[in-house]
Amino acid sequence: MRKKVTVVGAGNVGATTAQRLFERNYMDVVLVDVVEDMPQGKALDIAESGPILGIDASITGSNGYEESADSDVVVVTAGIARKPGMSRDDLLFTNMKIVGSVVEQVVKHSPECVLMVVSNPLDAMVQHAYGVSKLPKSHVVGMAGVLDTARFRTFLAQELGVSVRDVQAYVLGGHGDQMVPLTRHTTVGGVSIAELLSPDALERVIKRTKGGGGEIVALLKTGSAFYAPSAAIAEMVDAVLLDQKRQLPCAALLEGEYGISGIFMGVPVILGAGGVEKIVELKLTDAERTTLAASADGVRELVEVMANAPAS
Ligand code: NAI
Ligand code: 2OP
Repeated sequence: MRKKVTVVGAGNVGATTAQRLFERNYMDVVLVDVVEDMPQGKALDIAESGPILGIDASITGSNGYEESADSDVVVVTAGIARKPGMSRDDLLFTNMKIVGSVVEQVVKHSPECVLMVVSNPLDAMVQHAYGVSKLPKSHVVGMAGVLDTARFRTFLAQELGVSVRDVQAYVLGGHGDQMVPLTRHTTVGGVSIAELLSPDALERVIKRTKGGGGEIVALLKTGSAFYAPSAAIAEMVDAVLLDQKRQLPCAALLEGEYGISGIFMGVPVILGAGGVEKIVELKLTDAERTTLAASADGVRELVEVMANAPAS
Protein backbone atom coordinates (compact mmCIF):
# COMPACT_ATOMS: atom_id res chain seq x y z
CA MET A 1 0.00 0.00 0.00
CA ARG A 2 1.22 3.50 -0.82
CA LYS A 3 2.01 6.00 1.91
CA LYS A 4 -0.68 8.59 2.48
CA VAL A 5 -0.32 12.32 3.13
CA THR A 6 -3.06 14.83 3.85
CA VAL A 7 -2.53 18.53 3.24
CA VAL A 8 -5.01 20.75 5.07
CA GLY A 9 -5.49 24.18 3.50
CA ALA A 10 -5.64 24.16 -0.29
CA GLY A 11 -4.43 27.72 -0.76
CA ASN A 12 -1.09 28.75 -2.23
CA VAL A 13 1.14 26.70 0.08
CA GLY A 14 -1.21 23.73 0.44
CA ALA A 15 -2.03 23.28 -3.25
CA THR A 16 1.60 23.70 -4.33
CA THR A 17 2.66 21.21 -1.67
CA ALA A 18 0.00 18.73 -2.84
CA GLN A 19 1.30 19.07 -6.40
CA ARG A 20 4.93 18.55 -5.37
CA LEU A 21 4.01 15.48 -3.30
CA PHE A 22 1.78 13.97 -6.01
CA GLU A 23 4.59 14.37 -8.53
CA ARG A 24 6.91 12.29 -6.32
CA ASN A 25 4.62 9.35 -7.25
CA TYR A 26 5.15 7.24 -4.14
CA MET A 27 2.35 8.53 -1.92
CA ASP A 28 -1.38 9.19 -2.23
CA VAL A 29 -2.43 12.74 -1.40
CA VAL A 30 -5.62 14.16 0.14
CA LEU A 31 -6.21 17.91 -0.06
CA VAL A 32 -8.68 19.42 2.44
CA ASP A 33 -10.11 22.94 2.65
CA VAL A 34 -13.24 24.60 4.01
CA VAL A 35 -14.01 26.34 0.72
CA GLU A 36 -16.71 24.31 -1.03
CA ASP A 37 -15.57 22.46 -4.19
CA MET A 38 -12.17 24.23 -4.31
CA PRO A 39 -9.96 21.38 -3.00
CA GLN A 40 -11.88 18.95 -5.22
CA GLY A 41 -11.23 21.20 -8.23
CA LYS A 42 -7.51 21.60 -7.51
CA ALA A 43 -7.08 17.87 -6.80
CA LEU A 44 -8.85 16.97 -10.06
CA ASP A 45 -6.68 19.41 -12.00
CA ILE A 46 -3.51 17.92 -10.44
CA ALA A 47 -4.77 14.35 -11.08
CA GLU A 48 -5.31 15.19 -14.75
CA SER A 49 -1.59 16.03 -15.04
CA GLY A 50 -0.85 12.37 -14.14
CA PRO A 51 -1.13 10.86 -17.64
CA ILE A 52 1.17 13.56 -19.05
CA LEU A 53 3.75 13.21 -16.29
CA GLY A 54 3.47 9.42 -15.93
CA ILE A 55 2.18 9.68 -12.36
CA ASP A 56 -0.27 7.04 -11.14
CA ALA A 57 -0.55 8.09 -7.49
CA SER A 58 -3.99 9.28 -6.42
CA ILE A 59 -4.99 12.75 -5.25
CA THR A 60 -8.39 13.53 -3.73
CA GLY A 61 -9.93 16.83 -2.70
CA SER A 62 -12.38 17.13 0.17
CA ASN A 63 -14.16 19.49 2.54
CA GLY A 64 -14.10 16.87 5.30
CA TYR A 65 -11.66 14.51 6.98
CA GLU A 66 -13.07 11.04 6.21
CA GLU A 67 -10.85 10.74 3.14
CA SER A 68 -7.82 11.70 5.23
CA ALA A 69 -8.19 8.68 7.55
CA ASP A 70 -4.97 6.86 8.48
CA SER A 71 -2.62 9.36 6.88
CA ASP A 72 1.05 8.81 7.66
CA VAL A 73 1.77 12.55 7.57
CA VAL A 74 -0.63 15.48 7.84
CA VAL A 75 0.58 18.91 6.75
CA VAL A 76 -1.36 21.86 8.20
CA THR A 77 -1.26 24.99 6.03
CA ALA A 78 -4.77 26.19 6.91
CA GLY A 79 -5.11 29.78 7.99
CA ILE A 80 -4.62 33.28 6.74
CA ALA A 81 -1.38 34.53 5.23
CA ARG A 82 0.38 37.87 5.58
CA LYS A 83 -0.46 40.91 3.50
CA PRO A 84 1.88 43.90 3.16
CA GLY A 85 2.28 45.69 6.49
CA MET A 86 1.39 42.60 8.54
CA SER A 87 3.87 40.65 10.64
CA ARG A 88 3.57 36.88 11.10
CA ASP A 89 2.47 37.61 14.67
CA ASP A 90 -0.58 39.58 13.43
CA LEU A 91 -2.01 36.22 12.35
CA LEU A 92 -1.94 34.76 15.86
CA PHE A 93 -5.54 34.69 17.07
CA THR A 94 -7.18 33.91 13.74
CA ASN A 95 -4.81 31.09 12.91
CA MET A 96 -4.88 29.73 16.45
CA LYS A 97 -8.62 29.05 16.12
CA ILE A 98 -8.23 27.58 12.64
CA VAL A 99 -5.25 25.37 13.54
CA GLY A 100 -6.95 24.17 16.75
CA SER A 101 -10.12 23.08 14.95
CA VAL A 102 -8.18 21.48 12.11
CA VAL A 103 -5.91 19.49 14.43
CA GLU A 104 -8.89 18.14 16.43
CA GLN A 105 -10.27 16.67 13.20
CA VAL A 106 -6.90 15.45 11.97
CA VAL A 107 -6.07 13.37 15.04
CA LYS A 108 -9.56 11.91 15.21
CA HIS A 109 -8.99 10.36 11.79
CA SER A 110 -5.21 9.83 11.81
CA PRO A 111 -4.18 9.21 15.43
CA GLU A 112 -0.76 7.82 14.42
CA CYS A 113 0.26 10.57 12.01
CA VAL A 114 3.28 12.83 12.04
CA LEU A 115 1.77 16.32 12.19
CA MET A 116 3.69 18.92 10.22
CA VAL A 117 2.59 22.48 10.97
CA VAL A 118 3.20 25.33 8.54
CA SER A 119 0.62 28.00 9.50
CA ASN A 120 2.00 31.19 11.03
CA PRO A 121 3.13 32.44 13.46
CA LEU A 122 4.92 29.13 13.09
CA ASP A 123 6.48 28.36 16.46
CA ALA A 124 3.32 29.34 18.37
CA MET A 125 1.09 27.36 15.99
CA VAL A 126 3.18 24.19 16.39
CA GLN A 127 2.95 24.56 20.15
CA HIS A 128 -0.82 25.00 19.90
CA ALA A 129 -1.13 21.98 17.59
CA TYR A 130 0.91 19.90 20.03
CA GLY A 131 -1.38 20.89 22.94
CA VAL A 132 -4.58 20.15 21.01
CA SER A 133 -3.37 16.94 19.35
CA LYS A 134 -2.02 15.16 22.44
CA LEU A 135 0.38 13.40 20.07
CA PRO A 136 3.84 12.51 21.36
CA LYS A 137 6.33 15.36 20.95
CA SER A 138 8.23 13.37 18.33
CA HIS A 139 5.14 13.42 16.10
CA VAL A 140 4.64 17.19 16.02
CA VAL A 141 7.07 19.29 14.00
CA GLY A 142 7.08 22.72 12.39
CA MET A 143 8.43 23.80 9.01
CA ALA A 144 10.42 27.05 8.91
CA GLY A 145 14.13 26.37 9.37
CA VAL A 146 14.45 24.50 6.08
CA LEU A 147 12.90 27.51 4.30
CA ASP A 148 14.93 30.13 6.17
CA THR A 149 18.11 28.13 5.54
CA ALA A 150 17.25 27.80 1.84
CA ARG A 151 16.89 31.58 1.62
CA PHE A 152 20.23 32.07 3.37
CA ARG A 153 21.90 29.60 0.99
CA THR A 154 20.30 31.28 -2.05
CA PHE A 155 21.55 34.75 -1.09
CA LEU A 156 25.03 33.46 -0.18
CA ALA A 157 25.32 31.62 -3.49
CA GLN A 158 24.22 34.74 -5.39
CA GLU A 159 26.72 36.90 -3.51
CA LEU A 160 29.58 34.47 -4.19
CA GLY A 161 28.61 33.37 -7.69
CA VAL A 162 28.61 29.67 -6.73
CA SER A 163 26.09 26.84 -6.90
CA VAL A 164 23.53 26.77 -4.10
CA ARG A 165 24.32 23.06 -3.85
CA ASP A 166 27.76 23.81 -2.44
CA VAL A 167 26.53 26.18 0.28
CA GLN A 168 25.92 24.49 3.62
CA ALA A 169 24.26 26.52 6.35
CA TYR A 170 21.90 26.50 9.32
CA VAL A 171 19.27 29.00 10.35
CA LEU A 172 17.92 28.20 13.80
CA GLY A 173 15.59 29.90 16.30
CA GLY A 174 12.07 31.24 15.90
CA HIS A 175 10.60 31.90 12.44
CA GLY A 176 10.70 35.68 12.72
CA ASP A 177 13.00 38.67 12.75
CA GLN A 178 15.05 37.05 15.50
CA MET A 179 15.93 33.91 13.54
CA VAL A 180 19.56 32.88 14.01
CA PRO A 181 21.76 32.23 10.95
CA LEU A 182 24.74 30.28 12.29
CA THR A 183 27.63 31.79 10.35
CA ARG A 184 30.26 29.69 12.12
CA HIS A 185 28.57 26.57 10.70
CA THR A 186 28.25 28.06 7.20
CA THR A 187 30.62 26.71 4.56
CA VAL A 188 31.02 26.69 0.79
CA GLY A 189 32.54 23.44 -0.41
CA GLY A 190 33.92 22.97 3.10
CA VAL A 191 35.50 26.45 3.30
CA SER A 192 34.31 28.69 6.11
CA ILE A 193 32.15 31.62 4.96
CA ALA A 194 34.33 33.98 7.03
CA GLU A 195 37.18 33.29 4.58
CA LEU A 196 35.01 34.02 1.55
CA LEU A 197 32.83 37.02 2.40
CA SER A 198 33.62 40.30 4.11
CA PRO A 199 31.82 40.93 7.42
CA ASP A 200 29.78 43.70 5.75
CA ALA A 201 28.67 41.47 2.89
CA LEU A 202 27.79 38.67 5.31
CA GLU A 203 25.78 41.08 7.45
CA ARG A 204 23.88 42.19 4.33
CA VAL A 205 23.01 38.58 3.49
CA ILE A 206 21.90 37.85 7.05
CA LYS A 207 19.64 40.92 7.06
CA ARG A 208 18.08 39.88 3.76
CA THR A 209 17.54 36.33 5.07
CA LYS A 210 15.76 37.60 8.17
CA GLY A 211 13.50 39.73 5.98
CA GLY A 212 13.18 37.02 3.31
CA GLY A 213 9.48 36.34 3.91
CA GLY A 214 8.65 40.05 4.01
CA GLU A 215 10.55 40.66 0.76
CA ILE A 216 8.23 38.23 -1.05
CA VAL A 217 5.10 39.66 0.63
CA ALA A 218 6.07 43.16 -0.54
CA LEU A 219 6.52 41.90 -4.11
CA LEU A 220 3.40 39.70 -4.31
CA LYS A 221 1.16 42.24 -2.53
CA THR A 222 -1.69 39.73 -2.08
CA GLY A 223 -0.11 36.96 -0.01
CA SER A 224 3.13 35.33 1.02
CA ALA A 225 5.68 32.90 -0.38
CA PHE A 226 4.67 29.42 -1.45
CA TYR A 227 7.08 27.90 -3.97
CA ALA A 228 10.06 27.65 -1.61
CA PRO A 229 7.85 26.83 1.40
CA SER A 230 6.22 23.92 -0.45
CA ALA A 231 9.65 22.63 -1.51
CA ALA A 232 10.74 22.74 2.13
CA ILE A 233 7.63 20.84 3.25
CA ALA A 234 8.13 18.19 0.58
CA GLU A 235 11.73 17.67 1.70
CA MET A 236 10.49 17.09 5.26
CA VAL A 237 7.71 14.73 4.12
CA ASP A 238 10.29 12.68 2.18
CA ALA A 239 12.49 12.51 5.28
CA VAL A 240 9.63 10.98 7.29
CA LEU A 241 8.05 8.69 4.69
CA LEU A 242 11.35 7.37 3.37
CA ASP A 243 12.89 7.20 6.85
CA GLN A 244 15.81 9.23 5.57
CA LYS A 245 17.02 10.37 8.99
CA ARG A 246 17.87 13.76 7.52
CA GLN A 247 19.45 16.35 9.79
CA LEU A 248 17.26 19.38 9.14
CA PRO A 249 16.44 22.56 11.05
CA CYS A 250 12.84 22.12 12.23
CA ALA A 251 10.65 23.50 15.01
CA ALA A 252 10.69 20.87 17.76
CA LEU A 253 9.75 20.83 21.44
CA LEU A 254 12.76 21.76 23.54
CA GLU A 255 13.07 20.27 27.00
CA GLY A 256 16.40 21.58 28.17
CA GLU A 257 18.30 21.30 24.88
CA TYR A 258 20.26 24.50 24.21
CA GLY A 259 19.27 25.58 27.75
CA ILE A 260 15.67 26.17 26.57
CA SER A 261 12.53 24.45 27.87
CA GLY A 262 8.83 24.27 27.14
CA ILE A 263 8.66 25.86 23.67
CA PHE A 264 8.87 24.74 20.06
CA MET A 265 11.67 26.43 18.13
CA GLY A 266 13.96 25.78 15.19
CA VAL A 267 16.87 23.47 15.98
CA PRO A 268 18.64 20.74 14.02
CA VAL A 269 16.74 17.47 14.33
CA ILE A 270 17.00 13.99 12.89
CA LEU A 271 13.80 13.56 10.90
CA GLY A 272 12.80 10.00 10.03
CA ALA A 273 9.94 7.52 10.21
CA GLY A 274 9.58 8.25 13.93
CA GLY A 275 9.16 11.98 13.23
CA VAL A 276 11.61 14.04 15.29
CA GLU A 277 13.82 11.13 16.31
CA LYS A 278 16.47 13.28 17.98
CA ILE A 279 17.36 16.89 18.65
CA VAL A 280 20.96 17.54 17.64
CA GLU A 281 22.79 19.82 20.06
CA LEU A 282 25.49 21.76 18.25
CA LYS A 283 28.27 23.22 20.36
CA LEU A 284 27.51 26.94 20.39
CA THR A 285 29.64 29.85 21.53
CA ASP A 286 28.35 32.03 24.37
CA ALA A 287 27.39 34.72 21.85
CA GLU A 288 25.43 32.21 19.73
CA ARG A 289 23.66 30.86 22.82
CA THR A 290 22.68 34.40 23.82
CA THR A 291 21.23 35.11 20.35
CA LEU A 292 19.30 31.82 20.40
CA ALA A 293 17.99 32.62 23.89
CA ALA A 294 16.77 36.03 22.65
CA SER A 295 14.96 34.30 19.79
CA ALA A 296 13.41 31.88 22.32
CA ASP A 297 12.21 34.85 24.40
CA GLY A 298 10.38 36.19 21.33
CA VAL A 299 8.68 32.83 20.81
CA ARG A 300 7.81 32.55 24.51
CA GLU A 301 6.17 36.00 24.49
CA LEU A 302 3.87 34.92 21.68
CA VAL A 303 3.06 31.63 23.39
CA GLU A 304 2.10 33.59 26.52
CA VAL A 305 -0.17 35.89 24.50
CA MET A 306 -1.76 32.76 23.05
CA ALA A 307 -2.24 31.20 26.49
CA ASN A 308 -4.15 34.33 27.55
CA ALA A 309 -6.20 34.53 24.35
CA PRO A 310 -9.80 35.68 24.90
CA ALA A 311 -12.22 32.73 24.73
CA SER A 312 -14.79 33.10 21.95
P1 NAI B 1 -3.74 30.92 1.53
O1 NAI B 1 -4.64 32.00 2.02
O2 NAI B 1 -3.39 30.86 0.10
O3 NAI B 1 -4.36 29.50 1.94
C1 NAI B 1 -4.87 29.20 3.19
C2 NAI B 1 -6.01 28.24 3.00
O4 NAI B 1 -6.46 27.81 4.27
C3 NAI B 1 -7.22 28.84 2.28
O5 NAI B 1 -7.52 28.11 1.11
C4 NAI B 1 -8.34 28.73 3.31
O6 NAI B 1 -9.61 28.48 2.75
C5 NAI B 1 -7.84 27.55 4.13
N1 NAI B 1 -8.51 27.46 5.43
C6 NAI B 1 -8.87 28.46 6.28
N2 NAI B 1 -9.48 27.94 7.36
C7 NAI B 1 -9.51 26.59 7.19
C8 NAI B 1 -10.00 25.50 7.96
N3 NAI B 1 -10.62 25.71 9.14
N4 NAI B 1 -9.86 24.27 7.47
C9 NAI B 1 -9.25 24.04 6.29
N5 NAI B 1 -8.76 25.02 5.52
C10 NAI B 1 -8.89 26.28 5.96
O7 NAI B 1 -2.41 31.02 2.44
P2 NAI B 1 -1.00 30.33 2.13
O8 NAI B 1 -0.16 31.27 1.37
O9 NAI B 1 -1.26 28.99 1.60
O10 NAI B 1 -0.38 30.25 3.61
C11 NAI B 1 -0.96 29.37 4.55
C12 NAI B 1 -0.32 29.59 5.93
O11 NAI B 1 1.04 29.17 5.89
C13 NAI B 1 -0.29 31.05 6.40
O12 NAI B 1 -0.55 31.11 7.77
C14 NAI B 1 1.13 31.48 6.09
O13 NAI B 1 1.56 32.56 6.89
C15 NAI B 1 1.87 30.20 6.43
N6 NAI B 1 3.19 30.08 5.84
C16 NAI B 1 4.18 29.59 6.65
C17 NAI B 1 5.44 29.39 6.17
C18 NAI B 1 6.49 28.84 7.07
O14 NAI B 1 7.67 28.95 6.74
N7 NAI B 1 6.14 28.23 8.18
C19 NAI B 1 5.78 29.69 4.77
C20 NAI B 1 4.66 30.16 3.99
C21 NAI B 1 3.41 30.35 4.53
C1 2OP C 1 7.63 33.14 4.86
O1 2OP C 1 8.66 33.19 5.54
C2 2OP C 1 5.23 33.63 5.13
O2 2OP C 1 6.45 32.72 6.90
C3 2OP C 1 6.34 32.79 5.54
O3 2OP C 1 7.61 33.35 3.64
